[in-house]
Amino acid sequence: MDFAELAALASGHAEARAIQTALKLGIFDILESAPLDDAALAAAISANRRATALIANAMVALGLLAKRANRYALTDTSRRYLLRSSAEYLGGLILFDEAIFETWTHLEQTIRTGVPARPTDMFQSRPEETERFIRAMDSLTRARGDPAYVADRVDLSRVSMVADIGGGPGTYAAAMLHRWPHLRAAIYDLPATLEVARRILAEREPAALARIDMVRVDYLYDEIPGPCGALFMSNIIHNEDEMANAQLFRKCFRALEPGGMMIIKDHIMNADLTEPRAGAIFALYLLLATRGRDYSFEEVSRWLGDAGFVDINHQALPSPPFTSSMVIARKPRTIEKVGKAKK
Ligand SMILES: C[S@@+](CC[C@H](N)C(=O)[O-])C[C@H]1O[C@@H](n2cnc3c(N)ncnc32)[C@H](O)[C@@H]1O
Repeated sequence: MDFAELAALASGHAEARAIQTALKLGIFDILESAPLDDAALAAAISANRRATALIANAMVALGLLAKRANRYALTDTSRRYLLRSSAEYLGGLILFDEAIFETWTHLEQTIRTGVPARPTDMFQSRPEETERFIRAMDSLTRARGDPAYVADRVDLSRVSMVADIGGGPGTYAAAMLHRWPHLRAAIYDLPATLEVARRILAEREPAALARIDMVRVDYLYDEIPGPCGALFMSNIIHNEDEMANAQLFRKCFRALEPGGMMIIKDHIMNADLTEPRAGAIFALYLLLATRGRDYSFEEVSRWLGDAGFVDINHQALPSPPFTSSMVIARKPRTIEKVGKAKK
């Protein structure tokens, strides 16, 4: 690594904060209809003119605005990812990152103690936090395209019902229903999340919502309702500790029909837990805010094997844009009884 790369990495918070703040101030949405100069832009966002010019110039330097004849305009990137009206709006995730920035300031203390820096409540305690968290998940995966990509590559042609455990905003369930018209889906999640998911799906996917059962399930304490032909789980195991994941896979095994498919999508790490890079960095956020971390394929396949799953395989997704991958396993069609008398 050279000096420039190290220096850029070590001060990356400045760019991140500038983008988060510009978005929160509404700078990109204001410029959707027409370019504006600094005075008009400052007036439109109710901010100081000199300071507005500086943050707008910073956005120009980052390629998120263009400046012509002293007027600021959107670029292709900001038009595509930073406008609320865009189908690929990434702003939900950026505003979530803005809101949890304070949590990162406790990293040193958390490394010293091993104790998370905030409640590990999966943002269920305050409605505004649940809304921001679930919209962040929706925004990230829609902008990057994970749900459509996954729905296209997992063969659900012989499955009649797929349940998405911790399905959050329903973005994956809706994509699977679009791709497989015969399918029904269920989302198993916590009550506060289900409320937000219903709102998101009603706004955008009313036809899909009619084919989705929204079921209150706390996967830590409840059985997973079945029987299901397939179970899907995206960004779930990284929130939980080893024991909880091993127990969750045993519940999934019981909920699946014989021959049923288990699909796990997550940052699946190498045995050293150092690759992919995005997963190793994200593990620090998980340390701050959850009971989990990112796990290796060896760890995930051991839990699956212990639960009784077979045909366990790891499927890469193209990177970039994706940073996660999938582990797919199957429940055997016939299950041999353990402890049969030997002949
Ligand atoms: C990181 S989000 C992932 C959302 C979605 N699967 C995705 O990948 O976009 C974690 C999801 O798990 C849900 N969740 C967390 N703890 C849960 C629990 N104990 N039982 C059921 N759902 C839970 C959250 O409400 C949230 O929807």
